[in-house]
Amino acid sequence: MKAIICPRYGSPDVLKLREVEKPVPQEEEVLIQIHAASLNSRDLRMLRANPLFMRLMPGSLFRPKNKILGADLAGRVEAIGSKVKQFKPGDEVFGFLPSSIGKGTFAEFVCASEKLLTLKPAILTFEQAAAIPLAAMTALQGLRNYGNIQPGQKVLINGASGGVGTFAVQIAKAFGAEVTAVCSTKHLELARSLGADHIIDYKFEDFTQNGLRYDLILAVNGYHPIKDYLHALNPGGSYVVAGGSMRQLIQAGSNRKGNSRTDGQITNVLSLVQSQSDLLFLKNLAESGKIMPVIDRIFPLSKIVDAIWYFEKEHPRGKVAIHMV
Ligand SMILES: NC(=O)c1ccc[n+]([C@@H]2O[C@H](COP(=O)([O-])OP(=O)(O)OC[C@H]3O[C@@H](n4cnc5c(N)ncnc54)[C@H](OP(=O)(O)O)[C@@H]3O)[C@@H](O)[C@H]2O)c1
Repeated sequence: MKAIICPRYGSPDVLKLREVEKPVPQEEEVLIQIHAASLNSRDLRMLRANPLFMRLMPGSLFRPKNKILGADLAGRVEAIGSKVKQFKPGDEVFGFLPSSIGKGTFAEFVCASEKLLTLKPAILTFEQAAAIPLAAMTALQGLRNYGNIQPGQKVLINGASGGVGTFAVQIAKAFGAEVTAVCSTKHLELARSLGADHIIDYKFEDFTQNGLRYDLILAVNGYHPIKDYLHALNPGGSYVVAGGSMRQLIQAGSNRKGNSRTDGQITNVLSLVQSQSDLLFLKNLAESGKIMPVIDRIFPLSKIVDAIWYFEKEHPRGKVAIHMV
């Protein structure tokens, strides 16, 4: 099968399209013919060994332990192991592979545990389905598990136009929140089309200094010091951050329970946990029209180098997808 191999850490230019052996499913695995994948910040971090301490993982000093990158997939089950119960050959599935299993989706086939998959939303293309899993599950767990989102709450998404943010705006609306989206000028119209009630252009307005307060803030990256977020939160409000500098993450992680000094406000660092029930929840949201993936561009597998450069440099709207066959 064709796969994109990452022989060492570096820029996207180190990636090579190669013929490798097609995998064979174990007893509890399905063999999936991947039709589409999508890019996530995680792929870039693994490619560039960022943060550096990733190299301390066993077998990762000079090159990623997993030579095939990519987490998200949508495809068709080609074969199943003898103990697989949920799927049969021909089923269309989607999901994402946690980095701990050491496999990647920038390839024509992959074997994965059935627990990592669910049936693909029938109304979506493979590219649309592949855009959902990792980014939308991050948004869902950030808002619901960490932020305890409630109907009627004022929720702000800082970084609303990228992979995680475009889902976060739609999921927060699906939970009945009043949503403020923060992004740059070129993406304001996109944020409006996703259903945001209020939109702030971070290039011209600092939402932490305009006197407005929110019950829940989800920041896809830190972007501001923690004290600014606390300033923009109502008493008892929650701040959840998905990514950012080590300093921003340590600061956010040190106030998990809230205290009187911070008016009961809680800050938290999101740590995504793969969940089949969350994947099913997202499938249902997609099938009921409550979330629709935003795809900026689709690249063929053979152009993955261009795709990753584009993802890294161009601030794409929503997701960049990879077309496999
Ligand atoms: N903790 C976890 O388990 C977990 C899981 C998944 C992802 N993540 C993290 O989540 C982060 C976001 O991923 P993503 O794929 O959504 O990123 P992305 O697609 O690059 O989106 C970045 C967003 O931030 C906005 N932005 C850029 N500069 C900003 C600023 N100064 N102020 C406010 N907004 C700004 C961008 O807006 P414009 O494009 O309009 O400039 C865009 O909306 C990454 O750091 C990733 O590592 C964490």
